[in-house]
Amino acid sequence: MAAKQSADNTSGLGFDAKIISLLTRPLPSTRFPDETSDADTVYQILCQELLLDGNSKQNLATFCQTWESPEVHKLMDLAIDKNLIDKDEYPQTAEIEQRCVNLLADLWNAPGKPIGCSAIGSSEASMLGGMAAKWRWRSRQEAAGKPTDRPNMVCGSVQICWKKFARYWDIELREIEMSPGELCMTPDAMLKQVDENTIFVVPTMGVTYHGLYEDVAGISRALDDFENRTGINIPIHVDGASGGFLAPFTAPDHEPWDFRLERVKSINASGHKFGLAPLGIGWVLFREPADLPDELIFHVSYLGGDMPTFQINFSRPAGQVIAQYFDFIRFGKAGYTAIHGSSHEIAGYCAQKIGTVDGFEIIHDGSPDKGIPAVVWTQAENTEHGFTLYELADRLRMRGWQVPAYPFTGDLAHKAFQRILVKRGFTREMADLLLIDIEQAIDFLTSHSRNTSPSSVQASSYNHL
Ligand SMILES: Cc1ncc(COP(=O)(O)O)c(C=O)c1O
Repeated sequence: MAAKQSADNTSGLGFDAKIISLLTRPLPSTRFPDETSDADTVYQILCQELLLDGNSKQNLATFCQTWESPEVHKLMDLAIDKNLIDKDEYPQTAEIEQRCVNLLADLWNAPGKPIGCSAIGSSEASMLGGMAAKWRWRSRQEAAGKPTDRPNMVCGSVQICWKKFARYWDIELREIEMSPGELCMTPDAMLKQVDENTIFVVPTMGVTYHGLYEDVAGISRALDDFENRTGINIPIHVDGASGGFLAPFTAPDHEPWDFRLERVKSINASGHKFGLAPLGIGWVLFREPADLPDELIFHVSYLGGDMPTFQINFSRPAGQVIAQYFDFIRFGKAGYTAIHGSSHEIAGYCAQKIGTVDGFEIIHDGSPDKGIPAVVWTQAENTEHGFTLYELADRLRMRGWQVPAYPFTGDLAHKAFQRILVKRGFTREMADLLLIDIEQAIDFLTSHSRNTSPSSVQASSYNHL
């Protein structure tokens, strides 16, 4: 007995030999471990390892929320064992998801019976909207005895989820890239790309590259004219990943961009971005039930009851939906307006300061009528700073800030742009600290000659494009 105790209790200090071994050897990374390990020690080691991920509050690259209230943490805990797909098993969670769909249909001015669902994020949500458009287009073509083998979609400079959608679903992507002075898809440029094989046009409310809102109403009017001239009716899907949860609150007088436009058949938005919910939730809504083809809905019965589902994944965590509903009730329109209004105000403040740097040109100043609460800038043509924005991003990373630099598209693909996203929790105090760090980084870079400059790949943090 005594011998066993001394084997387990190293030096009589109460340290278990297995704990010492966990602390002094690398954690398993290639071979599945044979033995069990002490839970608390593994937890502590992982907590320390995760410190290397940095501080999410300084991640100004991501569009996603990095702050959640204590109530949301508790609700997520409560829901950790709930599978969203088991609607029969968790009927109240299913009811809450439907309520969220109803509230969003109201927010986005859907005319009739709300129809839509949650998804894991805007990527899945946009693919669901895209599938519905492809199916609707195919039925129309078949009914007219026309070919269905060359579908295309038309959009501006989109987030990668649309490139994935086009590739995975065999659709020609007609992406209108940027040129100086034309950062968004214009109605004229769009009209040159559409034809009877266009399943839809996708304007973005908050283009990932620069945060500006595309002209949904102008594009809709141009498609009305096109239909009058040609008889071809092309629907719109709005990528409202960010703007869907901003424009209704901070730009209520913006020209209609949602279901008020009859041509808008579906909208996606990220609950986990400006919807303020924790990571892992997006939404897709359809104008009316006829816009979601019945063939896309699966009726699953083996978990008990009839469960209509329209999702790519089967099992999904339910906590995000519950947390989203909490946010809707907790904040209401007044709360979302106040929270996002503050973000726009702080973005405007940062834009005004960054705009005073000699040779920096502000592309988006975070104004609520123009786009999302982001600040985007570049180095004006013919400015010789002696450093690149990739180097500035790299230097800021040393202070923990993630402020990505990246190229735009088309004629602007040779040039670097830089962006900060202002979200809930990014206070004026933090903004001032960032601005001081930008100033000091610029001083450092201009006063130290460089040997080699980091490439865009080496220097930029993840840019979410
Ligand atoms: C305009 C736009 N669409 C779609 C996405 C993809 O969203 P998610 O990360 O929720 O899948 C993003 C992400 O930044 C985006 O900015």
